[in-house]
Amino acid sequence: MTPMRVMVTGGAGFIGSHLAERLVSSGIDVDVVDDLSSGSLANLSTARSLRGGKLHFHQIDVKDAGVATLVERRQPEVVFHLAARSDVRMSMVDPIADADANILGSLRILDASRRASVQKVVFAASAGIYGAVPEDRIPISEDVAHRPESNYGLSKDTVLRYLEIYRATYDLEYTALILANVYGPRQGARGEAGVVSVFARSLLAGSPVTIYGDGTQTRDFVYVDDVVDAFYRAMESGGGTQINIGTGREISINELYAALAVLTGRQGAEPAYGQGVAGEIMRSALNARRAGWYLRWHPFTKIEDGLRGVVSWMEATRDLAE
Ligand SMILES: NC(=O)c1ccc[n+]([C@@H]2O[C@H](COP(=O)([O-])OP(=O)(O)OC[C@H]3O[C@@H](n4cnc5c(N)ncnc54)[C@H](O)[C@@H]3O)[C@@H](O)[C@H]2O)c1
Repeated sequence: MTPMRVMVTGGAGFIGSHLAERLVSSGIDVDVVDDLSSGSLANLSTARSLRGGKLHFHQIDVKDAGVATLVERRQPEVVFHLAARSDVRMSMVDPIADADANILGSLRILDASRRASVQKVVFAASAGIYGAVPEDRIPISEDVAHRPESNYGLSKDTVLRYLEIYRATYDLEYTALILANVYGPRQGARGEAGVVSVFARSLLAGSPVTIYGDGTQTRDFVYVDDVVDAFYRAMESGGGTQINIGTGREISINELYAALAVLTGRQGAEPAYGQGVAGEIMRSALNARRAGWYLRWHPFTKIEDGLRGVVSWMEATRDLAE
């Protein structure tokens, strides 16, 4: 049965706010838990205005011990745990802050959930858990060994281990969605697919764009609405599994730039090339066949349509800001 009350940690962020909209408009009451460290209340304005379930906002850090009382008081049936420091580069600059929020913060949420008899936790993991994999294993399927190369990837991988232990020991059900590079409206510049928003914003502003490296590095860009659909399905399916959410398709940074240049009317504007980032993974794409089996999920947004969605949103919000 579809739950009537859920919690979304990180619900004032990019993906979380889109998820909150989908849940509220489906008639589900949503408690958003967010410390607003990278998210904002503005991200929730649409969710607040929708008819359907009620939206409650709680400004609290998931590392705070008070989170347990909150979960106990609100009694969510499902907890979507998306709150995290999601900046890979910052995780290398400040590994302790990353582990504090992404490991200990997650542990607080898991522990609060089992004490409050939450039925299920749906966790936002990342393709960063895999690290660089042999070329013949791309697109990556879930049986590939996890060899994270960033502190962020390691923290997400650690939470997967806790989820397994909590399920086996305390009967706390979970589904972990291993997300490729998510893009869409409201994304900040720092996230894993922040390159879409950085390029689009600069192109629209007529500013120069710098591509780090030669631009042949590839990523799997999956649209936020498709990702939200996977979270929604995971409320009721995919228990005890770790599931890739991506398109399986590699897009190079040069191809991405060219597509956005056309959509913003700046075709012909040449990018500058800067020095590549040390240790950057050259190729990445996720095989999402398991998502089809367990969640009946398939990506449905074509990259052209998704990028158009980002550009239209930026144009509209820029108009509002002027
Ligand atoms: N965007 C992507 O491409 C991508 C890819 C893989 C995984 N993910 C994961 O998906 C989740 C959502 O990512 P996003 O892109 O929406 O990022 P985001 O930064 O927009 O959202 C994260 C939200 O969590 C909140 N937050 C951070 N630390 C917190 C804390 N200690 N306590 C309470 N709230 C806190 C932030 O204020 C923000 O609203 C994250 O867990 C991220 O690691 C994202």
